[in-house]
Amino acid sequence: MISYKDLGLVNTKEMFKKAVDGGYAIPAFNFNTMEQMQAIVQAAVETKSPVIMQVSKGARQYANATILRYMAQGAVEYAKELGCEKPQIVLHLDHGDSFETCKSCIDMGFSSVMIDGSHLPYDENVALTKKVVEYAHQFDVTVEGELGVLAGVEDEVSAEESHYTKPEEVKDFVSKTGVDSLAISIGTSHGAHKFKPEQCELVNGVYVPPPLAFDVLKEIETELPGFPIVLHGSSSVPMDEVNTINQFGGKLEAAIGIPEEQLRKASESAVCKINIDSDSRLAMTAAIRKVFAEKPAEFDPRKYLGPARDNMKKLYMHKIVNVLGSNDKL
Ligand code: G3H
Ligand code: 13P
Ligand code: ZN
Repeated sequence: MISYKDLGLVNTKEMFKKAVDGGYAIPAFNFNTMEQMQAIVQAAVETKSPVIMQVSKGARQYANATILRYMAQGAVEYAKELGCEKPQIVLHLDHGDSFETCKSCIDMGFSSVMIDGSHLPYDENVALTKKVVEYAHQFDVTVEGELGVLAGVEDEVSAEESHYTKPEEVKDFVSKTGVDSLAISIGTSHGAHKFKPEQCELVNGVYVPPPLAFDVLKEIETELPGFPIVLHGSSSVPMDEVNTINQFGGKLEAAIGIPEEQLRKASESAVCKINIDSDSRLAMTAAIRKVFAEKPAEFDPRKYLGPARDNMKKLYMHKIVNVLGSNDKL
């Protein structure tokens, strides 16, 4: 059993309280590679932002769970080396799918876990989430639960409402489970194709998707005043990255994300954690494709992973400063 406290990591408790009170959101960036980790730390240090580094099941399979944990420990030391005296870094399990996965992460030094029982019948979601909370809280590890199913791109807008989190359930869920934060569904979804073009309005050549369900968010906030709310699926799918990818041989058609103004508005509410993964993948791919196209003789990975790292850092800094507002909060 390794405590995250010995690794210099923190849980989300204080961080979320300050974010809710201060009207900003903490960035939760997924990482699978060293370059992503370095870019996240550089961006967080330079903007003086707390940050959540999150690891999915897929990341654990790809990179090895132990390696990722040591990378997070390395992230804390790297942040100090870059001049941050007291980094506020959370190592979080993203979309934990079982008690065993959550326990394994807690035992190896994660400071926060998500148990995603959103696909289960309500009572089963409550029971599973409660079990994880009871284990995690013994070690001061914070837990994110989820209610409501994130809409997929196949769903019709008209049918989305049925996937939204039901405000009448949230109070009961939080009190029965003891979770520290709650992921909700108000119109975001995972990946780079969040909406079909026909669901959007075309404004000056740009697809503008339907707005998030701020009315549902408001009702949830009324049920749970001041309680930390999480938004998954919050990549904006920047057009410049998509265009670069397509310009240099990629084929990303009708990639549409959540407009940044909507996320900025959400950040000012009880939404205090915003999950971004796809945008980092786009930034990395765009930079690598550009190098491959412009310098076809290049074969030193540092010559394309370096620009990829720089491009991701730029993206992370932009999110922190211009969208979430978590800069200068250390
Ligand atoms: O929520 C999903 C995250 O973007 C992680 O994706 O499971 O492909 O690592 P992944
Ligand atoms: P995106 O696919 O929108 O980046 O969402 C990431 C996420 O929610 C990770 O849990
Ligand atoms: Zn997610």
